[in-house]
Amino acid sequence: MTSEQAAPSISSSAYAVFGNPIKHSKSPAIHSAFSEQFDDDITYRAVRVEVDDFELKVSRFFQRGGGGLNVTLPFKERAFILSDEATDRATRARAANCLIPLPDGSIRADNTDGIGMVRDMVANLGWQLSSRRVLLLGAGGAVRGVMQPLLMENPTELVVANRTAQKAEALASEFADQKIPVQGCGLDDINGQSFDLIINGTSAGLTTELVSLPDFNLTERSCCYDMMYSAEPTGFMRWAASKTPWAVSDGLGMLVEQAAESYFLWRGKRPDTLKVIQSLRHQMSI
Ligand code: ATR
Repeated sequence: MTSEQAAPSISSSAYAVFGNPIKHSKSPAIHSAFSEQFDDDITYRAVRVEVDDFELKVSRFFQRGGGGLNVTLPFKERAFILSDEATDRATRARAANCLIPLPDGSIRADNTDGIGMVRDMVANLGWQLSSRRVLLLGAGGAVRGVMQPLLMENPTELVVANRTAQKAEALASEFADQKIPVQGCGLDDINGQSFDLIINGTSAGLTTELVSLPDFNLTERSCCYDMMYSAEPTGFMRWAASKTPWAVSDGLGMLVEQAAESYFLWRGKRPDTLKVIQSLRHQMSI
């Protein structure tokens, strides 16, 4: 199945994000802003789901005619498993952040995180990914989720470097069938290498403490992207600001873009994302 398909017919105007915790989710505000752009009359709720109840709650939501679900931590892998069919990018990610009800009552799993990140880099930030050497830091679910959409942009090479080298090697081996080389290694193995794009997909970027990164080389065209976002710059963001001050971004745009792709999959309309990113950025600064 191709990763971008026409939206199925809208069975309902009720949408939600399921997660745990979910209190600080920005998704309701983002989808409310999208729906205003189109004058769409929808509801979008953030729902805290008990860990044991996830499958039951998903099934009830769709039985009642729910129009679509986003899924966040810790349920993305389970959302993929419970689905009846999955797009290529969700299958590669082995995780889904977007569930789409189909007219026959089955559920399609998709993963919009990777395409969200790529759109933020290419369309919003104006960064080039094709013919670039890309370094992904980390080898957990966040990194796995963005690899296929990144490869679709035709970088020259994708290097996955992780504290636990074996995890990076195992992840890279899953992409051995791709025409673009994907290499997995430990953090020390990238010492002295040069990269055009460095993406932080480790959970270490969450803290404001400065992460200690290996001594790899950056060029005048290098860009640094943190898949996380927070009001205070993460350790990775501060490191990046000292290395490539001309091209540093956190993952706020990725958050909005993955939501926009979900909106498109559910309702067949593409929201204007820049206004929403700017508004969230403004709210985070006050
Ligand atoms: P997620 O699903 O959000 O990616 P995860 O699967 O727990 O979360 O993965 C977290 C990633 O951050 C892993 O790659 C982890 O490295 P290990 O595989 O060696 O555990 C990485 N990570 C977490 N804390 C880190 C730290 N202090 N320094 C470097 N990498 C770290």
